[in-house]
Amino acid sequence: MIDKTVQDSSLSSSQLTKTVLSGDQPLTILKAVDLDIKAGESVAIVGASGSGKSTLLGLLAGLDVASDGQVTLLGHDLSAKDEDARAAVRAQGVAFVFQNFHLLPGLTALENVMLPLEIRGQMANRDIKAEANRLLTGVGLGQRITHYPNQLSGGEQQRVALARAFAGQPKVLFADEPTGNLDSTTGAHIETLLFELNEKSNTTLVLVTHDETLAARCQRQFRMADGVLAEVSI
Ligand SMILES: Nc1ncnc2c1ncn2[C@@H]1O[C@H](COP(=O)(O)OP(=O)(O)OP(=O)(O)O)[C@@H](O)[C@H]1O
Ligand SMILES: [Mg+2]
Repeated sequence: MIDKTVQDSSLSSSQLTKTVLSGDQPLTILKAVDLDIKAGESVAIVGASGSGKSTLLGLLAGLDVASDGQVTLLGHDLSAKDEDARAAVRAQGVAFVFQNFHLLPGLTALENVMLPLEIRGQMANRDIKAEANRLLTGVGLGQRITHYPNQLSGGEQQRVALARAFAGQPKVLFADEPTGNLDSTTGAHIETLLFELNEKSNTTLVLVTHDETLAARCQRQFRMADGVLAEVSI
């Protein structure tokens, strides 16, 4: 399943387009997006609500399929791959923080964070538990590890989703509004954790955000407007 022997954490797209059916009319919500992100770069995508940011993130991470164009993630061309093959690419080091968190409701906070480490299968269960505990403590949730998602506030669920994404030091981390539900102090702390991962593990960060401080801290900024992406010179 490996396209190249050399793995990399760069990310690119070429003429990436998404057309959906709106009623019985085709609606193009992403228009020929070209993107070239180097390994270890931090990138912010800003833009109005409904402009196509989450759609783009889902396509770049291989969670959704394009109508046209290509994505290359961790050295793999995603366009030729089915869902299982895309999941196999994601398992090589791609983490995603969803806008609405997507925690598994039947698992506690601790179990949600343990899951990607269990799937990876490289650590003993006791170590996985300790690592998940450490990550949750890192996002300020050391006292909430046995809570289920419906027993957590929106901001707490967001932080569990972030801890889950940090697990196993991903090569590429996509996050859709990672500080959207947090107060400014907690948001600043999460920002620190994101950039620590970027600096220490060379994790490529692709962040969708309305948070200007967070966007300004990224090396590159892009603006989405009506499905068209343009780089902002900073
Ligand atoms: N499956 C779909 N069918 C029809 N329209 C869709 C579908 N998915 C997304 N859209 C539309 O595409 C546009 C872009 O949606 P998207 O979720 O990418 O926006 P966004 O920039 O992330 O917005 P927000 O900042 O509010 O999260 C929206 O107008 C949305 O209604
Ligand atoms: Mg969105």
